[in-house]
Amino acid sequence: MITKIIKLSEKSFKIDEIKIAVETIINGGLVAFPTETVYGLGANAFNIEAVEKIYEVKGRPKDNPFIVHIADKKDVSKLASEIPVKAERLMKKFWPGPLTLIFKKSKVVPDVATAGLDTVAIRMPDNKIASALIKESKVPIAAPSANLAGKPSPTSAEHVINDLYGKIDVIIDSGKTRIGVESTVLDLTTHPPTLLRPGGITLEELESVLGKIKLHPVVKAEREIRKITAKSPGMKYRHYAPEADLIVVEGKERAVRRKIQELVNEYKSEKKKVGIITISKHDYDSDVIKFAGKDLTTIAKNLFRIFREFDKERVNVIIAEGVKTSGMGLAIMNRLKKASGYNVIKA
Ligand code: TXA
Ligand code: MG
Repeated sequence: MITKIIKLSEKSFKIDEIKIAVETIINGGLVAFPTETVYGLGANAFNIEAVEKIYEVKGRPKDNPFIVHIADKKDVSKLASEIPVKAERLMKKFWPGPLTLIFKKSKVVPDVATAGLDTVAIRMPDNKIASALIKESKVPIAAPSANLAGKPSPTSAEHVINDLYGKIDVIIDSGKTRIGVESTVLDLTTHPPTLLRPGGITLEELESVLGKIKLHPVVKAEREIRKITAKSPGMKYRHYAPEADLIVVEGKERAVRRKIQELVNEYKSEKKKVGIITISKHDYDSDVIKFAGKDLTTIAKNLFRIFREFDKERVNVIIAEGVKTSGMGLAIMNRLKKASGYNVIKA
């Protein structure tokens, strides 16, 4: 298949320029498009065959459902059978934005999009290209992140091209995404609501609107949890993983630096190529050092790109400095821990 690449600027694109992408969605094809978090791989959520194709090209397990993307808050009432008051408050405050809400699903949502669950994940992205694509197609768009299953989510079109070129119809390239980690996933069918995946909207922000929120055990996990219920099927798969082994080192700054240098020295003596992800710009004696940023927002934006760069540079081992788990730190540590297979060392 020839993949058409459309280069656009979010600020100044014209509707005409997304015409091919819109027609592709309408005709049951697949379009990778930018959102404020990561690139998504979209299909008409009402077209069963189109949605099935997403599972195929991603190599996505069939029991892991997709988020349905909308461009108008009113569409929730068509896709969800019930809208709790809590949802209305969250939608008012955080939509459009990086927050996915889980509702009881209505009959119009095909089972293939929700992997047979009786709930549906809905999100209204804060990206003009994504909104225009949904509006012009006149259907909600089912979309996972536009990476091959198991790879880090794509934060630029280049990442999408590396994973999916030749397998999908269209890739819309509008450069780097603004947030860099995926949306927060919150289940509103439980009381209190359950945080299933930390992401672009922080737990603190959610709690300022809702009060106490339950953290799903996987969000707090120190090690892999193997018995995942059907409620959150996506959590059981190894995610975001770079090809190299990843180790996360947590603790006080000086102890972390000492521990990391110790590990580097060990791996070097085994002739392994070692890469480091630092948030303190510390000058380690190592093969490759990448500075992810000092503040959590910048680290979130850079993390997945850095994973992919290390793969290109054929690093054997990546060692990352841990971050604090407040604010965006919860999402960053969640991605680091999952990518490392919960290989976390306390310094
Ligand atoms: O920022 C994002 O959320 C990006 C952009 C493209 O919107 N999308 C994304 O999709 O990250 P994906 O498929 O990679 O992750 C969606 C997560 C998965 O862990 C999936 O299991 C969960 O949401 N999910 C989807 N529907 C669900 C449901 N009905 N109940 C529980 N979890 C659900
Ligand atoms: Mg994904």
